[in-house]
Amino acid sequence: MKDVDTNRLSADEWDELNFPRPEVQEFDRVVERAISRRGFLGGVLAFGSGAAVMGTSFLKGTAAMAQQTSRFAFEALAPQIDNTIHVPAGYNWNVLVRWGDPLFSDAVGAFDPRNGVSVEMSDRVFGENTDGMELFNIGGREILVVNSEYTNREVNLPHAAEGVPGSLDDVRILQHFQGVSVLEIAEGPDGWSVVLDSPYNRRIHHNSPMTFDGPAAGHPLMQTEADPTGMSSLGTMNNCGSGRTPWGTYLTCEENFNGYFGATGDMPADEVVAAGYTRYGIGADGWGYDYHKWDARWDVSQNPNEPHRAGWVVEIDPANPDATPVKHTALGRFKHENAAYAIAPDGRLVVYMGDDERGEFMYRWLSRDIYVPGGDTSTLLSEGTLSVAVFEDDLTGRWVPLTPETTGMDPAMIAIFTRMAGSAVGATTMDRPEWIAVNPTATEAYCCLTNNSRRGVLTDAGTVRTNAGGDAMTVNGPNPREANNFGQIVRWRPDGGDHGADGFSWDLYVMAGNPSVLEGPGAGSENINAGNLFNSPDGMMIDTSGLIWIQTDGDDSNEGDFEGMGNNQMLAGDPVSGEIRRFLTGPNGCEVTGLTWSSDRRTMFVGIQHPGDNGGDWPDHGGSLARSAIVAVKRDDNGLVG
Ligand code: FEO
Ligand code: CA
Ligand code: CA
Repeated sequence: MKDVDTNRLSADEWDELNFPRPEVQEFDRVVERAISRRGFLGGVLAFGSGAAVMGTSFLKGTAAMAQQTSRFAFEALAPQIDNTIHVPAGYNWNVLVRWGDPLFSDAVGAFDPRNGVSVEMSDRVFGENTDGMELFNIGGREILVVNSEYTNREVNLPHAAEGVPGSLDDVRILQHFQGVSVLEIAEGPDGWSVVLDSPYNRRIHHNSPMTFDGPAAGHPLMQTEADPTGMSSLGTMNNCGSGRTPWGTYLTCEENFNGYFGATGDMPADEVVAAGYTRYGIGADGWGYDYHKWDARWDVSQNPNEPHRAGWVVEIDPANPDATPVKHTALGRFKHENAAYAIAPDGRLVVYMGDDERGEFMYRWLSRDIYVPGGDTSTLLSEGTLSVAVFEDDLTGRWVPLTPETTGMDPAMIAIFTRMAGSAVGATTMDRPEWIAVNPTATEAYCCLTNNSRRGVLTDAGTVRTNAGGDAMTVNGPNPREANNFGQIVRWRPDGGDHGADGFSWDLYVMAGNPSVLEGPGAGSENINAGNLFNSPDGMMIDTSGLIWIQTDGDDSNEGDFEGMGNNQMLAGDPVSGEIRRFLTGPNGCEVTGLTWSSDRRTMFVGIQHPGDNGGDWPDHGGSLARSAIVAVKRDDNGLVG
């Protein structure tokens, strides 16, 4: 998600306006201790604790990587700055579905290139700002489940001045465009298309019924006037990254939920509620959605507990269109990016999750019971232990359980105020954990740490900047760069090859940077060179062959420190050699996010989010409204793509 405040301000830009950083940034001091050179903890360099100043020669890109035997079945793509998609020679792309495209035959023609979609049809079409997605083959049918993260209000409400909702209908349009779309797709002679009126087609949005399970379900802080039981709610929101379970359900992850709430009257005075608002960023004005002015559910002066009912991982059963989605409170409440599962050797389910905000944490869920294919899975996301990551500078780390004993909080409070629980045990502040990916070909996992402009930067008063809970954001092992505008990817291997083990070792798979322009930390790690420049890694999936697909959501100005990076993009990385190669570039202004494959692995589906951010009109052109979309990428010879 790039825009969270207005249609023109990115999350970072909004943040900088409200929390400006000093003009002078110190790039001259960084701890180099964890750059992987030849695979995990191998090769010539695995810098230990206390290793100090990083020399330019360590980080400057070299051609050595490019000379190695490559696993990639494509030639690297050059950076691009235009308003369309590029893929390597021998590949092609086509639009599968855009926001406003019909999922049902009564919505054919609902989208108008100038006026968008009416409120009556707004929950009958594919949602806006596609993000995480997963494909399920159900009885031989290809069912795609896709998040719609947020709205571009100027694009989605073209009749409203500056996209500001002027009625409850406007709010309903925005609410309907977000959430989750379930759609059957099929490949014919003309490529992939949506199967209209499929019995699996479904829209789940900000007003769809949900239930809770886990330790917070029914707690007084979850109760509202409309739901005195605290057991059910309406809607899933700010659906960012995705996940899936081994039993064939979809996990949608609620990220910047705080931005939807506002107040028409006084903010809640209750100390516990107010402290939570501070930690989770809930304020009187919201981020411009203005729901609270038209729909009292979002007005915290009337419904102070409503924000507690968001910020969860939600399970959706794509095989059963009538099944009510479940919010699993045991997996914690924070700004969830995605949910990546692994199975421990003893059969317990592991789910790795990141909290995408500056200085927030990484988490691991470990089920109490084991997964048995075809067996009872009902406890696997509700009974178990949530832990938070502590990284040490000596390239080790551990998952610290969040329990009453470790946190001093009861299980419901740990679930609702997970961030505070993490702070209580000394979790490591991270550079905005975005997607986590588990390698299916090795016992290891990766997390994109997208950027953190405040890392190691002092306030005007000379104090260390902190997260919203007061935890210091000094440089640390996996977050070694001050004023980190490029991002890095941390990788960890659990002790004993067991994702259920509490200990792990870690390194950095890559530090993005720009060796063409900068020296020192800004140049990035050795596997960054003039041919594969990027910043702000965000989306990430690892395919069945073990290739790491990295998607970016960063500065696409192609100027200054970002010169030569071009538009946001998708690259492929070799986990062993470290080689990274650009595969796809998106239209200018977009973020590339969301990736999955057809069951035959001959099509790769890639999400293009907010393509109109720089004023573009992709993909329809000709002055049409910009339309986020999913594209289908194939080889010209119909070979395997993942
Ligand atoms: Fe929705 Fe952190 O990206
Ligand atoms: Ca993201
Ligand atoms: Ca991002």
